[in-house]
Amino acid sequence: MKILVLNGPNMNLLGTREPEIYGQKTLEDINSELIEYSKTINNSIELSFFQSNHEGDIVDKIQNAKNNFDGIIINPAAYTHTSVAIADAIKGVDIPAVEVHLSNINSREDFRKNSFIAPNCLGQITGFGKDSYKLALLGLYNYLK
Ligand code: DQA
Repeated sequence: MKILVLNGPNMNLLGTREPEIYGQKTLEDINSELIEYSKTINNSIELSFFQSNHEGDIVDKIQNAKNNFDGIIINPAAYTHTSVAIADAIKGVDIPAVEVHLSNINSREDFRKNSFIAPNCLGQITGFGKDSYKLALLGLYNYLK
């Protein structure tokens, strides 16, 4: 089972970026932990990682996932609240996707409460820090298996 893990803008700054909100771990730490966790679910899970600060690059990656990946885990970061293009791409490729957030987007500023992406996903996991990715993987795996 091949899963694409996408992260949007500023996620490359994790570790130093607003650690009181996003924690001390770098994106590399989070990705490594997810690889270890995936092995506890099933050894057949293959994870691929991509982070970009550019909306079009994320759209391209989603389009190229067609026929190459079984599922997508996406933290669209700020694009969550603005990007019709990413929402359309997920709908367009019709690959099961789960939206994740480190912070609880519902308990922050009002503009963060809206997600353009979530309606086109299987579900949304928000507020569990780095564990949000693990919960998303478990949910996606159980859906796909
Ligand atoms: C975030 C929440 C977004 O509102 C914010 O723009 C981010 C990170 C999160 O993981 O908590 O960049 O997606």
